[in-house]
Amino acid sequence: MPPSFDANNNNNSSSKNGNNGEKQQQQQQQMVCVTGAGGFIGSWVVKELLLRGYRVRGTARDPADSKNAHLLELDGAGERLTLCRADVLDAGSLRAAFAGCHGVFHVASPVSNDPDLVPVAVEGTRNVINAAADVGVRRVVFTSSYGAVHMNPNRNPDAVLDETCWSDYEFCKQTDNLYCCAKMMAEITATEEAAKRGVEIAVVVPSMTMGPMLQQTLNFSSSHVAKYLMGTKKSYPNAVASYVDVRDVALAHVLVYERRDARGRYLCIGDVVHRARLLQILKELFPQYPVTAKCEDDGKPMAKPYRFSNQRIKDLGLEFTPLRKSLHEAVICMQQKGHLPLIYPMQKRAYL
Ligand SMILES: NC(=O)c1ccc[n+]([C@@H]2O[C@H](COP(=O)([O-])OP(=O)(O)OC[C@H]3O[C@@H](n4cnc5c(N)ncnc54)[C@H](OP(=O)(O)O)[C@@H]3O)[C@@H](O)[C@H]2O)c1
Repeated sequence: MPPSFDANNNNNSSSKNGNNGEKQQQQQQQMVCVTGAGGFIGSWVVKELLLRGYRVRGTARDPADSKNAHLLELDGAGERLTLCRADVLDAGSLRAAFAGCHGVFHVASPVSNDPDLVPVAVEGTRNVINAAADVGVRRVVFTSSYGAVHMNPNRNPDAVLDETCWSDYEFCKQTDNLYCCAKMMAEITATEEAAKRGVEIAVVVPSMTMGPMLQQTLNFSSSHVAKYLMGTKKSYPNAVASYVDVRDVALAHVLVYERRDARGRYLCIGDVVHRARLLQILKELFPQYPVTAKCEDDGKPMAKPYRFSNQRIKDLGLEFTPLRKSLHEAVICMQQKGHLPLIYPMQKRAYL
């Protein structure tokens, strides 16, 4: 049997980063809202907030859908979690969800390259900030993406990627990278609207997010790993990418929320590795799976990992989970939830 993974045992969490009793008591009075509560990152944000004693309202377009049922099983959910229906394109539903909340974590956004994602990401974010301001929410944490940061062909490869970096919008558009365009526009909209309406805002900028899922359905970044493991992705680009553990991303949201002077962007990147290295780690951890993808640029010099700074969020107390651990737990979790077949090392030949 594969080692079991206990999704309730989040060891990079409040226990690791410490909370005193007085602060926790104050937080217990606080109601906060998380949009997109049932998604991959949203679920871990809800879990972290519950662990820290907050009263949490989670939004979903259909709270009764079984895909959100895992939220009700989280520790503290029975007493301190309510789910409510809200669509980011419906301002009234957002105002109702945010009423009485001290803070909002705006996590919801489609993760796709579908043109429909742009209005949901951008107008949805405008609605969230305005609804928050309308009902007196003081502080918003917005989930951006490293897609808004690193996609710039003219970036000096020796320069350190940090919070001052932005993707090149025209380049993203020309290369059909609508997700990056949408996240850039959404982040700019969030910051500008918050400034206009006098709402405090901090932005978490996660890279490709890995690790165990609390939800049952397979999200985009987890499926990225599953495709390589199952050999359904036949090739990979000669490119580097940055990765982070989902529990670190969730904790980053809460840390920037709790530090009242935290403003602006916080890059949340744990590692930058070439795709070949990612596949190598998967092969070492799970030799029984047919990780067979080949580099598209075979024979050409390998792209080199860029340097990056995650110092701002580290200064708030975040310690990053090693990529190897994150991948290991992601795969075990996908096996347990039935997204990957259970193959034991000796079965590889028969399976192939
Ligand atoms: N995963 C990554 O690698 C990664 C990396 C960087 C940044 N991010 C950002 O992190 C956030 C969450 O990503 P994820 O990976 O957790 O994605 P996910 O699992 O697909 O969750 C996306 C969430 O967005 C909600 N949503 C979509 N359209 C909506 C709408 N019109 N109104 C309200 N809610 C809507 C969905 O809620 P429903 O239940 O209503 O469908 C779902 O809960 C996104 O902002 C994404 O851009 C993700």
